[in-house]
Amino acid sequence: MPRRPLIAGNWKMNKTVKEALALVSDLKRLLTQVRDRDIVVIPPYTALYPVVQRLEESNIQLGAQELFAKDWGAYTGAVSAPMLAEIGCTHVLVAHSERRQYFAESNASANERVKAALKHNLVPILCIGETLEERDAQRTMDVIATQLDGGIEGLGFSELGRLVVAYEPVWAIGTGKVASSAQAQEVHHFIRERIRQRDTTVAADMRLLYGGSVKPDNAAELFAQPDIDGGLVGGASLNATDFAAIVKAK
Ligand code: PGA
Repeated sequence: MPRRPLIAGNWKMNKTVKEALALVSDLKRLLTQVRDRDIVVIPPYTALYPVVQRLEESNIQLGAQELFAKDWGAYTGAVSAPMLAEIGCTHVLVAHSERRQYFAESNASANERVKAALKHNLVPILCIGETLEERDAQRTMDVIATQLDGGIEGLGFSELGRLVVAYEPVWAIGTGKVASSAQAQEVHHFIRERIRQRDTTVAADMRLLYGGSVKPDNAAELFAQPDIDGGLVGGASLNATDFAAIVKAK
């Protein structure tokens, strides 16, 4: 069976509740006919609950930008998987490169958070990607392998089968410098082969998203690559017309 595309919009630290509701209302209207792909919006924490209420009965799902690995307790500032699941989140980003860069998220803690998400039936979108220095030093595949293996360590096949991986070259995030479709495909293929060493069926079914300056004018070519199953969209997801065009790109 062909893999069902998934397009997720990561709003990062943007949109007040009022702005978030206006954006999802527009998206609902623009995307109401889309049936052949999964659509996820990922607002900041403060907007999650109002947004999920506005999304009721729609074909758009809700994700969160991060979670903490413990279910509850004295962890000031943290939000847990059961809290996200209760309000209707279906997806959660894990270890986005901005979390790795500004909040010291490591591969080991990514692994704990992937497991916490799965335990509470959230789909983790594990984010991996190399920096420009790493690419220039020909270390891209090593970095990808280390981040991937670290993030999925100890997962059984059925758990691994529920995971989504997003390949986001750090040098392409928010810079307008998109990876060429060939560069992206090369890394996506590498990721799928690495998963295949664990399980062929899981590898064949796993959705791998590309992220990094995805725009309406480059989405179709990226998504047409054999191992790219959709996108994780930052900047362009803040504009309803642009995000809708990316969702529909084929
Ligand atoms: P961008 O961000 O589309 O603004 O490059 C992508 C991401 O960080 O997920």
